[in-house]
Amino acid sequence: MKITAVLLAAGQGTRMKSSTPKVLHTVGGKPMIWHALQAIQSATTEKPVVVVGHGAEAVIAYLADTAQTVLQEPQLGTGHAVMQAEALLRSMTDLVVVCYADMPLLRGETLQKLVETQKQNSGPISMLTVVADDPRGFGRIIRGEDGTVKAIVEEYVATPDQLQVKELNVGGYCFDANWLWEALHRIPKNPKKGEYYLTDAVELAVKDGLPVQAVVMDDLEETIGVNTRVHLSECEAAMRRRINQMHMLNGVTMIDPASTYIESGIEIGRDTVIMPNTHLFGKTVIGERNVIGPNTIIRNSTIGNGCKILSSDIESAILEDDVDMGPFARLRKGAHLGNHVHMGNFGEVKDSYLGEGVKMGHFSYIGNAQIGANTNIGAGTITCNYDGEKKHATEIGEDVFIGSDTMLVAPVKLGNGARTGAAAVVTKNVAEDTLVVGMPARAIRKLERKPKKSQK
Ligand code: UD1
Ligand code: CA
Repeated sequence: MKITAVLLAAGQGTRMKSSTPKVLHTVGGKPMIWHALQAIQSATTEKPVVVVGHGAEAVIAYLADTAQTVLQEPQLGTGHAVMQAEALLRSMTDLVVVCYADMPLLRGETLQKLVETQKQNSGPISMLTVVADDPRGFGRIIRGEDGTVKAIVEEYVATPDQLQVKELNVGGYCFDANWLWEALHRIPKNPKKGEYYLTDAVELAVKDGLPVQAVVMDDLEETIGVNTRVHLSECEAAMRRRINQMHMLNGVTMIDPASTYIESGIEIGRDTVIMPNTHLFGKTVIGERNVIGPNTIIRNSTIGNGCKILSSDIESAILEDDVDMGPFARLRKGAHLGNHVHMGNFGEVKDSYLGEGVKMGHFSYIGNAQIGANTNIGAGTITCNYDGEKKHATEIGEDVFIGSDTMLVAPVKLGNGARTGAAAVVTKNVAEDTLVVGMPARAIRKLERKPKKSQK
């Protein structure tokens, strides 16, 4: 059986007061429409059709080839919107799932339940409803004395009695396709707004003598539709609770989930502790037994196991295992810290590899550098990697000791076991096991290297 979704995303979203199309506003770091498509995917068999209109260009660009799109121009209501998909889908699908792209919390499981209900339904419509005290402007579900669904009445046309009804139209439907295509043409134009309401399809089915099934949802949160930025923030908070709960149930400790901000799609290993005010964004993967935060931001990065990251900012970087970082350390794109690296306060690393056991305690900038194992970077060390036009590389060997406040004027190489005196300005390569001092630093004597204590 072919099941295809039609996702409505053509409306203007006037109440958002935004130049960004409503469905591209983000929740949990992903556009609302991404969440809707995610839910749809688990309940349908075919590529979805998205109805676009306002801001179509931006929405189409975002969707790329994840969906087919049809343009609704002008936007004459939700019934009219679904009609735009008829030419694409007629005789191509058995069931049509319709949902609205401004409901980012709706779960795939809920749509699956909806589809299963329609598969058993001898009538042409199954729909999602919820019982709630706060109607939030939703359409009211009108049931007959026998309890069967008779109609959906929009709030602004409802009678005082109908306004009291607590069962609401969530905005998710599964239709028998053949019935739907024919019925859409029978939906009357709403006399007040001149629009064609999809919700009127329910009355048409009832008039045809065909049963309409309702799936009554119990999670009110899932039904939040975003019409204003206040609703957007409600969704954000609910999404955060949902994401954090999932991680906690998978074995991640959170000291204060309410102040822990994790986007959708991030992986975190067991026994990792996330401290308050930590933000994890993008394509980030975090291993086991780490302690992250408080006050840490990690974006598009990979963190190994057993690391400690305190009050730091990490972007597009890699940490191997048992790295100890912060407070106030910054990793930029292409930073790669090997096992057991220690990076203390006020350091910055970009496009560089720090080998196993490197220590960089305080106030350093390392850019375009490769640093060998167990090297010590003294306080205030700078790789002078930029000459105003180009970036140049610095290569530092193993067991090197860089004295405080050393300037490494790239391109430059320091051999294994080399040593620089405090405030050296290194403009020339330094041979292995050689001590350099001064400005510019020059060799003054050959060193004896002591065997290193092994790393713990
Ligand atoms: C709609 C329902 C209401 C339900 C509520 C749940 C109708 C008539 N009403 O009301 O019963 O309780 O959702 O949130 O369906 N859209 C188009 N083209 C249009 C008009 C709308 O694509 O011409 C899209 C919008 O972009 C939006 C969705 O359809 O994603 C819903 O439209 P909206 O105007 O938000 O409907 P509501 O007034 O919220
Ligand atoms: Ca809405």
